[in-house]
Amino acid sequence: MTPKIPLSQRVSSLKPSPTLAVDAKAKAMKAQGLDIVNLSAGEPDFDTPDHVKEAAAEAIKEGFTKYTAVGGIPELKQAVIAKMKRDYGVEYAETEICVSTGGKQVLYNIFQAILDPGDEVIIPVPYWVSYPAMVELAGGVPKFVQTEQETGFALSVEMLEQAVTSRTKAIILNSPSNPTGAVYPEEMLRDVARLALERGFFIVTDDIYDEIRFDGKLPYNAVSVAPEAKELVLCVNGVSKTYAMTGWRIGYLAGNSEVVKAVTKIQSQSTSNPNSIAQKAALAALTGPQECVKEMCAAFRERRDYMVQRLQAMNGVNCIAPQGAFYVFPDFSSVFGAKWDQGTIDGSLALADYLLEKAKIAAVPGIAFGDDRFIRFSYATDIKVIEEGMDRLQEALAALAR
Ligand SMILES: Cc1ncc(COP(=O)(O)O)c(C=O)c1O
Repeated sequence: MTPKIPLSQRVSSLKPSPTLAVDAKAKAMKAQGLDIVNLSAGEPDFDTPDHVKEAAAEAIKEGFTKYTAVGGIPELKQAVIAKMKRDYGVEYAETEICVSTGGKQVLYNIFQAILDPGDEVIIPVPYWVSYPAMVELAGGVPKFVQTEQETGFALSVEMLEQAVTSRTKAIILNSPSNPTGAVYPEEMLRDVARLALERGFFIVTDDIYDEIRFDGKLPYNAVSVAPEAKELVLCVNGVSKTYAMTGWRIGYLAGNSEVVKAVTKIQSQSTSNPNSIAQKAALAALTGPQECVKEMCAAFRERRDYMVQRLQAMNGVNCIAPQGAFYVFPDFSSVFGAKWDQGTIDGSLALADYLLEKAKIAAVPGIAFGDDRFIRFSYATDIKVIEEGMDRLQEALAALAR
């Protein structure tokens, strides 16, 4: 008989994503030929720009298909340095940059590099789904801080001071945010930087949506508003969202050279360099024409305006206009308790299930982001699909008996 070999405790305590059930059901329904309006996408619906694809094709033709330096090719690091200077006004050296396989790997590597068992990481709620799991996989302890829609999902000094302990190693800031689309006020970032300098912890700033914003401002983050905290601010970014390059898997870290050295070491013993061809493509994206970014942003803005206006006109929906990314995150808690023929809507999972079954809309329940009152709708899809989705949502909400 084959012996049963237990898997690691690490993987056993890793929670499966609560979104999987809804996602799997939506896929199965689609496979059955049902007309599902998919508002759950986490990536731009646009194609990768042609000049980026051409750079990749050229890289293949030239035989740029071998291992590169673990932390990325120097030209790409220089392109990242130029972007950080242009958008954030901060100077970095090549020793302060590491290129990885997506922003996700950058984040994973950071927590592996900075956390010891029991170290705490402050995570504002609602949060991007992977932060708590990444912290836990590195032995860290997430310290959740609840934020509210009424205050634009911002953190106050009081909230932060209460959350910081002697074990605090980092805080994660994500602005514009997935799922809320909120952009943090500059003053708040200054407060966080001041506290980080006083109490000694890193600010992991996930700026992956930094160029998808609707306030007409250049991106800003904790290091641009408080350059004196540069050594503590770890800037995570990538080309996935800005250039519609989610499949290429290129992300980067700009920050403290000691941390950069540590994450590069981890990368050297795990995945080695990010894909050589994708690095050339990312180089073309960062250094080539930027009109494609403006065009995509303009389309996102139009869709956001439409979706928000429709949502705000519906009974039972409480939502603010997001300032960036491509998600709207309305509060549906006022419909909780409503009944339909398959049960009571007692939270975001039940509501997402109702919307899927009744209205054939796929959306992500807020519980996946740590807040059960909300549902995330993505507008990274055609305006016609959004129109249809909003019509169906309106009808489905009106049909709920209360
Ligand atoms: C907030 C946030 N951070 C990081 C990532 C990771 O992006 P990637 O690994 O494609 O660079 C995502 C992707 O969904 C995200 O939404």
